[in-house]
Amino acid sequence: MASLEIYYTFIVCLFCFSQTTLAVDNRKFPAGFKFGVATASYQIEGGWDEDGKGENIWDHLTHVSPDLINHQSNGDISCDSYHKYKTDVALLKELGVDFYRFSLSWSRILPTGYIDGGINEPGVAYYENILDLLEENGIEPMITLYHWDLPQPLHENVGGWLNETTVDIFANYARLAFDLFGDRVKYWVTFNEPLSICQQGYETGGKAPAISDNPGVDLYICGHMVLKSHAAAYHIYDKEYKPKQKGKISIVINTNWAEPGSDDAKDVEAAERTLQFRFGWFANPIVHGNYPQVMIDRIGNRSVQEGFTQSRLPQFTDEEVESIKGTYDYIGLNHYSTSLIKWREDIEIGEPSSSKDMSVQESIDFSWETSASYWLFVVPWGMRKISKWVKDTYNNPEIIITENGYSDAGGILDDDRRINYIREYLSSLLEAIYDDEVNVTGYTAWSLMDNFEWFRGYAEKFGLYSVNFTDPERPRTPKASVDYYKSILTTRCLVEECTE
Ligand SMILES: *[C@@H]1O[C@H](CO)[C@@H](O)[C@H](O)[C@H]1NC(C)=O
Ligand SMILES: *[C@@H]1O[C@H](CO)[C@@H](O)[C@H](O)[C@H]1NC(C)=O
Ligand SMILES: *[C@@H]1O[C@H](CO)[C@@H](O)[C@H](O)[C@H]1NC(C)=O
Ligand SMILES: *[C@@H]1O[C@H](CO)[C@@H](O)[C@H](O)[C@H]1NC(C)=O
Repeated sequence: MASLEIYYTFIVCLFCFSQTTLAVDNRKFPAGFKFGVATASYQIEGGWDEDGKGENIWDHLTHVSPDLINHQSNGDISCDSYHKYKTDVALLKELGVDFYRFSLSWSRILPTGYIDGGINEPGVAYYENILDLLEENGIEPMITLYHWDLPQPLHENVGGWLNETTVDIFANYARLAFDLFGDRVKYWVTFNEPLSICQQGYETGGKAPAISDNPGVDLYICGHMVLKSHAAAYHIYDKEYKPKQKGKISIVINTNWAEPGSDDAKDVEAAERTLQFRFGWFANPIVHGNYPQVMIDRIGNRSVQEGFTQSRLPQFTDEEVESIKGTYDYIGLNHYSTSLIKWREDIEIGEPSSSKDMSVQESIDFSWETSASYWLFVVPWGMRKISKWVKDTYNNPEIIITENGYSDAGGILDDDRRINYIREYLSSLLEAIYDDEVNVTGYTAWSLMDNFEWFRGYAEKFGLYSVNFTDPERPRTPKASVDYYKSILTTRCLVEECTE
């Protein structure tokens, strides 16, 4: 799940244009377009210490610092998918999805994180059972190797994503996953949302391991290690597994669309800079080989002025540039919302931070519909714009929308707002596909069911299915959006009747 740590300056936007609601697109999704739903291990599995699973940074943080989490909740049990995966596959079948995007819990497979620490057979069996059931039901798996639940020993022993050592440790885990499951998996994701992993995990403290004592420095080291880890896993798959397993592998990157606050060239430049700092930070290296020039220049410049002897943004060697360039078989895009961006004077030199490096003024339009998440405003046209931007900026890649969804506060089975969100974002996506010729081949709704929403605990619900978290059986109940999504999957169409 995305949740950008955004420094909103909530200013009233007086001259923002208001977007009129357009008619829902009545064209059919292209033949072969795939629909799915997504979840993530820590958010749904529970069984946090069962059958030999090791502790991860989310287990640890929610146990030692429960006050960080809304209502002091945690994912110890959550949806209890560790025991209820058969029910969950039945829900997927009922929905009629083409694919299911889920993540592996690294510590369920390797309790210490290290390959030498031994493989946990029941953990492996858990994922094999899910894959068997998916296969029986004709649902394709899309597996994410890392959706934020780093084994705690790796954090404690080496500092997790701040240490180069973690690159090899991750590569060993990735190889094991390809080895164990790759014969049945055609879509792999190395990392989900490196922006969230690094900016929130190692700068703002908004995600585990909630490190925030070296702002402007640690997040970029994290990003560097995550990119190297991604490239290492990509090459292992590409060389050792792809020839026989014939799957695709990439990374999932998230961003809001950044809409210029006006036509002024400076606002346009600031909006582009925002996209480069959030999306380009990771996409530019994997497509073009290195960080965006605007990041290299700005962070380098500020670092000098702050008295650092080298840029806070680490440098790739020429060899590394060559190795990272091209490590994607498609681009995974998580997209939920839009921000308005205006140019601002560079923030004066002081304690470093990534938001100062970027130095833009970010706001929203108060006419935008809200959700239960402070960062999520309903701006359907942002979907078309971000898709087109990714097409134009990264050589027209195959794009899969790997997450998109709407949150409410729960207890709403007649979830009209979620239905509208899905309808309008998909309508905007159709325009990207047909009018802008963006090569989008799949769409993933976040999420299959209500689950543990990180620091927000169980206060924000993104599910198509509702889960009763006070009932020990954790029953799942379809919301109205289930029927709507089901109808899209059957007709490949957003309205009563589509043109062919
Ligand atoms: C990185 O990990 C190694 C062990 O592989 C350790 O010796 C070293 O101290 C770690 N570095 C940092 C900065 O934690
Ligand atoms: C660094 O930024 C300052 C202030 O914006 C500018 O005057 C200077 O030319 C920049 N230096 C470099 C090397 O880019
Ligand atoms: C879109 O991407 C897929 C997968 O790479 C490819 O087979 C297809 O030819 C592409 N379509 C267009 C219109 O480029
Ligand atoms: C959830 O489960 C509890 C315990 O079984 C029950 O009392 C409650 O009515 C349920 N809530 C809903 C909305 O069904």
